[in-house]
Amino acid sequence: MAKTIYILNGPNLNLLGSREPEIYGHETLADIEARARAAAKSHGLELVFRQSNLEGELVTWIQEARTEAAALILNAGAYTHTSVAILDALKTLEIPAIELHLSNPHRRESFRQHSYVALGSTGVIAGFGPRGYELAVDAAAGLIG
Ligand code: DQA
Repeated sequence: MAKTIYILNGPNLNLLGSREPEIYGHETLADIEARARAAAKSHGLELVFRQSNLEGELVTWIQEARTEAAALILNAGAYTHTSVAILDALKTLEIPAIELHLSNPHRRESFRQHSYVALGSTGVIAGFGPRGYELAVDAAAGLIG
């Protein structure tokens, strides 16, 4: 049976395409999902792709990934920099977790330079725009083996 990877997207990522395009580009989240689906298919992986503006919903989905996923890719948006609850959920995982960002938070405001998500992640991909989602799927496939 094909293994499943989860890609979870946090707050405001539903507005991609119109949200600060000079930072996040012009592709919509649906465009990015299509890229991720093609990458997953090329590795023979099933993909669950979701977005929520709610911290608790993201926590619930991370918990779901404990039993349903072979790897987790998480763009937690601004919760990256604030959420101990998301970090605690990540720490319960026994599967690889990849922190993902479209932009490179390290060359932005100082408050973006701390990541709770990184403390619970296997690795980080940031700054490659929508292509980062494909890179993250490739990395997840490699980690699953
Ligand atoms: C982001 C970076 C975060 O700092 C920001 O709050 C986002 C998007 C990114 O993908 O570049 O919402 O996660």
